[in-house]
Amino acid sequence: MKFFIDTADVAEIRALNETGMVDGVTTNPSLILKSGGKIADVIAQICDIVDGPVSAEVTATDFDMMMKEGKYLAGIASNVAVKVPLTVDGLRTCRQLSDAGTMVNVTLCFSAAQALLAAKAGATFISPFVGRLDDLGEDGLELIGDIIDIYAAYDFATEVLVASVRSPLHVVRAARMGADVATIPPSTLRQLYNHPLTDKGLKAFLDDWGKTGQSILPA
Ligand code: E4P
Repeated sequence: MKFFIDTADVAEIRALNETGMVDGVTTNPSLILKSGGKIADVIAQICDIVDGPVSAEVTATDFDMMMKEGKYLAGIASNVAVKVPLTVDGLRTCRQLSDAGTMVNVTLCFSAAQALLAAKAGATFISPFVGRLDDLGEDGLELIGDIIDIYAAYDFATEVLVASVRSPLHVVRAARMGADVATIPPSTLRQLYNHPLTDKGLKAFLDDWGKTGQSILPA
């Protein structure tokens, strides 16, 4: 499973990229707002740090403007994936950009029917939002399973990018289902490392090691 990080915070991205766990980045207009930067600058900086796909979202809602914005965003760096919403115009834009060789991430997916349309439109990634479905009392991860099954049945190349991830359990369950990518907020990515028995075990080993009076490296 690939890990993308779901943030536009350049300092966070730089720090997490050093862990070797970051395969890409997703941003959205809300995350750009939070970053305080200009979208073109922020995306260019992120693309300098991370080699994998960096999603940058269009904000127009009609096809012509979406195409203009999409081409502009795609011109920032070769690893930009243009993010379009799951609307009629968004999927039309997806088809055109995708045919022209641009990576496209179709976002705001909340149903298997929508995911099927995105795959037919040639999306590189489909982003189903699990957390926002859970918030409504639905089962976001059930949608992930449905999409994986449908894509497998037709050999669609579109990658399932689990979005709106809120917990390590979302990541683990989606991985178990075989989802291609999870886009994970930095705090959740850090939570993946944690287990109290790791901390307890490490402390015990280090206490005992201290008692040996040894050091591994020769003086
Ligand atoms: C990423 O592509 C999505 O925009 C993001 O995961 C949405 O997450 P949220 O529901 O926590 O805002």
